[in-house]
Amino acid sequence: MSKLLSLTRAARLVGVNRVVLQKKIQSGELDAHDGMVDVDDLLACYPDAEIEDTVEIQRISRIKEQAFGKRIFERALPDAEVLAARVTELSKTLDRSQAMLENLKNLLNRLLKKLDETQCDAASQQAVSDLRLWIRHEAESAMEPGLSNLLAIKDNMLRVMAAHVTVQPSGHDFLLEGQDTLLEAAMSAGIPLNYGCSGGNCGLCKARVISGQVKKTRHHDYVLTEAEKSQGCILLCSNTAVSDVTLEATVAGSVQDIPYQQIDATVKSVEPLAADILLLHLQTPRTQRLRFLAGQSVTLRVGQAYSAELPIASCPCDDRNVLFHVRLQSGNLFSDYVFDRLKARESVEIEGPQGEFILHERSPRALYFFAFDDGFAPIKSVIEHAMSLNAEFIRLHWIASSRENIYMPNVVRAWADALDNFHHAEHVAGFDLRAMTANREERLMKQLCGIAENDAELLEGDVYLAGPQAAVRVAEQFFQDLGLPRTRVSISLMT
Ligand code: FES
Repeated sequence: MSKLLSLTRAARLVGVNRVVLQKKIQSGELDAHDGMVDVDDLLACYPDAEIEDTVEIQRISRIKEQAFGKRIFERALPDAEVLAARVTELSKTLDRSQAMLENLKNLLNRLLKKLDETQCDAASQQAVSDLRLWIRHEAESAMEPGLSNLLAIKDNMLRVMAAHVTVQPSGHDFLLEGQDTLLEAAMSAGIPLNYGCSGGNCGLCKARVISGQVKKTRHHDYVLTEAEKSQGCILLCSNTAVSDVTLEATVAGSVQDIPYQQIDATVKSVEPLAADILLLHLQTPRTQRLRFLAGQSVTLRVGQAYSAELPIASCPCDDRNVLFHVRLQSGNLFSDYVFDRLKARESVEIEGPQGEFILHERSPRALYFFAFDDGFAPIKSVIEHAMSLNAEFIRLHWIASSRENIYMPNVVRAWADALDNFHHAEHVAGFDLRAMTANREERLMKQLCGIAENDAELLEGDVYLAGPQAAVRVAEQFFQDLGLPRTRVSISLMT
């Protein structure tokens, strides 16, 4: 086992969040060397690592499977050839280690023999004998199986099941498991690599392999030139990682990096979430998936007559299955059509994405979400994305006009059950958050005051507000009055 581990691999081994390790490095509890940590330092910080690991990984996997699309989280063994290549590589390492160990044992025996044969006076003889005993004792304890060997076993297992991928120049990294392509694994880790069709046609996911071994697992129609091939270019949507890999690839850093798209999607299902909220599930063609950042909106169009701008309520990690929460609005043609007539397999055009309500991924602060009624839709998307990035602390306050407007309580409770770093609270305003009056503004302010008074850390975090314009503006004003800088308050306004 190599002495130095990437933060992602180290976090997986000891069963904690990557951000937790970063904090330990910042506080000086854990040493880092060029972004890597030493196994012994890691063990000193996590002496019980082998017990926690499995439990935590299972918990995180379970919630991600519930929250995200199945395509991304299907558990599978790596491709047979990839598995064989990784096992072969591990066997070579084992073989080299065994040979080295054998050499060291021989050297040790020769050294002990040499000491036996050493002729000297009585005082020196005693020193030689002490030295001989000491060497024997040290050699025996060095060869005893200990905790670090348990970690080594887990690390070797992880190396067979998952490859570690680093992306340059952004510095992102992720683990690739099962039969995922490089693109799928990056998406499930919340890393927005550049791509288009996901199917080997457009060439937008082209990247260069700087080091490591990849394998083409899917045919692609897009033709790479000989020059590109000789430079190590590959398509991320058609290749998987055989060994640990470093790539040169473009990562979307802002909404400007996401292209405007027009996609003919199909209605997969329309299901009630509450009396006046429907879950609209659209599916894009396999070759034209929707690229967006969590929290963004799109315009949906049915024919020429019905259209609406709606926030996406799902995670970008499942770019083919796009979810929306549609609210009943009498007199709104799009809402009426969805509630009364829209059926599975109908065609809906998606245009976009748009909007800047996205996660500030580089911020080290805790994440506070305030969802007002169906403002939960964009917040759900951002929270799921934050989970895939292993955010350290997430707190959701769902403030609803009435109890019925907290329409996905099971999802929120499942997050809380599965993740230690997710906390939530439900609040009922007792009036329509879309119909504000001076008196209602005052009542909402009081409710926010109560929340802030009970949470001393709130003003140290990043605040995300989403929901009906009237309610969000009250909350925005509330946080401004408390002195929270504008840059730490993100808002998504809904009609
Ligand atoms: S995303 Fe289009 S070729 Fe890979």
